[in-house]
Amino acid sequence: MCGIVGYVGPRNATSILIGGLRKLEYRGYDSAGIALLDQGQLELRRSPGKLRDLEEVLEENPVKGSKQGIGHTRWATHGRPTKDNAHPHRDARERVVVVHNGIIENYLEIKKDLLAAGDTFRSDTDSEVIAHLVAREIDQGHPLEQAVLRIIPRLEGIFAFCAMSIDEPGKIVGTRLGPPMVVGAGDGENFLASDVTALLEHTRQVIFMEDHETVVITAEEIRLLDDDGQPKPVQKQRIAWDPILAEKGGYRHFMLKEIHEQAGAINETMAGRFSLEQGKVFFAKEEFPLTDEDLRSIDRVCLIACGTSWHACLVAKFLLEKFVGLPTEVDYASEFRYRDPLITDKTLITIVTQSGETADTLAALREAKTRGARSIAICNVMGSTATREAEGTILTHCGPEIGVASTKAFTAQLVALYLMALRMGAARGRLKQDTVCEHLLQLAKLPSLVERCLEDDSKIQELAREFKDATDFLYLGRGVNYPIALEGALKLKEISYIHAEGYPAGEMKHGPIALIDETLPVVSLAPKDAVFDKMMANMEEVKARGGTLIAVTTEDAGDLDGKADFILEVPKTTPELTPILLVLPLQLLSYHIALLRGCDVDQPRNLAKSVTVE
Ligand code: AGP
Repeated sequence: MCGIVGYVGPRNATSILIGGLRKLEYRGYDSAGIALLDQGQLELRRSPGKLRDLEEVLEENPVKGSKQGIGHTRWATHGRPTKDNAHPHRDARERVVVVHNGIIENYLEIKKDLLAAGDTFRSDTDSEVIAHLVAREIDQGHPLEQAVLRIIPRLEGIFAFCAMSIDEPGKIVGTRLGPPMVVGAGDGENFLASDVTALLEHTRQVIFMEDHETVVITAEEIRLLDDDGQPKPVQKQRIAWDPILAEKGGYRHFMLKEIHEQAGAINETMAGRFSLEQGKVFFAKEEFPLTDEDLRSIDRVCLIACGTSWHACLVAKFLLEKFVGLPTEVDYASEFRYRDPLITDKTLITIVTQSGETADTLAALREAKTRGARSIAICNVMGSTATREAEGTILTHCGPEIGVASTKAFTAQLVALYLMALRMGAARGRLKQDTVCEHLLQLAKLPSLVERCLEDDSKIQELAREFKDATDFLYLGRGVNYPIALEGALKLKEISYIHAEGYPAGEMKHGPIALIDETLPVVSLAPKDAVFDKMMANMEEVKARGGTLIAVTTEDAGDLDGKADFILEVPKTTPELTPILLVLPLQLLSYHIALLRGCDVDQPRNLAKSVTVE
């Protein structure tokens, strides 16, 4: 997932572009570059590696005075992360320059035609063909925005790109079909970016572009066009996010900050959405447009997501089947979209996505909608594609989640899904008001329990020192906590690069028990619940084979000394909310192990914050 920034106005463009790209670093990238247009001169500065490498290039060879430019952080898809493959890209005669996020699937065919017409190429990328095509349209006498509109029908795939031309200084054109693009409206200056975090320092007035929209920005104007070049209304929205929220706030990493923001994120996500007195859950109509009658006509729920969000769906299956009494399926979005799913107009699709831009999840939503399903999104990014394509969106009000490894968004997703399940259960008459009230009371207590879990991580730091050199981990859980075993394993592997597996504890003797020896740390999620004794038996099996056991249990479980080598405790709550507490020590354990291993905690290798390509 690449990052795009554009600026035109009275200020120094270089520092604005670099500053904007820095806010997009969390998206993951392996090269970066900027292009500046000044008095008809096009200046490019690009570098493989990180922004600091690009800044070294700029120190050695500065660009002075330009007030207009575009910048890019590239996550390589076509062509290795080299300087020549770094964006921005130019046409053969260096008159047009573009930055692109997405994949042009038919670029080889286009490139072949352009080479046959005598064009020369400098990179192995798909994106470079865009600059060549736009330049050819400008040669035909079309203004930049018309040139962009004219080449769009030739492009297959997904794209969000910005273009500048030396023939039209003061103008930047952007267009999107797939990956997001946001316009920032300033005072005598305007901006373009892949997401709002790159703009917040300069403006909170933004326009979230839709697919099939092209925007023309100059210092004084913003014009939106449809694919036919017809003007569209410019609807500005005000972003409430505090720019400080998108900073580290004194923590060493965004991930640690976001782990510690979870009590607040849970509070913000449930705020205004329930009444203890009335024992009711409230969603605004635009969030959740299904009436009680609609809900009573639903005969199945499909939860669809990727990665950590998919783990949230696995927990929600328990909540929905218990609170609502509806059969609930959970599917990986990348599987759902290709398996010819059985969907009717009585199916409620719920996609869960922090970014709202995950390509597979969006494709699954579109597939389900074509088959008549009702659709709800659980999402953290206002204005993202998912929020505009689902019928309704229950936003998790976490603020920006910058760390690639999802933490606060995950627990907030669980809260949103918990509220949705209570709302649906009440609507279908399965939950009486006093039962809803009791569950809401437990939810209201949750933030303080989360705070207690995060107060002291010294024991977890000790565990991290003990196990930082392990080569494999096994995480075990049962029932509603089995998904947390999966999530704990994902957190560890994605930021520390240690192989880790999550497994249903009851499945251990069907294979994984062969792995048990003194070199394999086994994390066993054993809260005092209906299957506690079964978990104790599984822990015995591990100990009997010399395994090293880390038990994560609840404060009321009694004395587990002798049954585990290390014991971490979380406060007691209801079985349905226990997953939210159990995941917290696992997040911290993965963080501290990754730290000790010198890993890039916020931007793990090969990973992107949102996978906007298949
Ligand atoms: C989470 O730690 C991972 N970074 C990843 O699995 C993520 O959950 C997945 O890519 C889905 O992203 P989304 O929630 O933005 O759709």
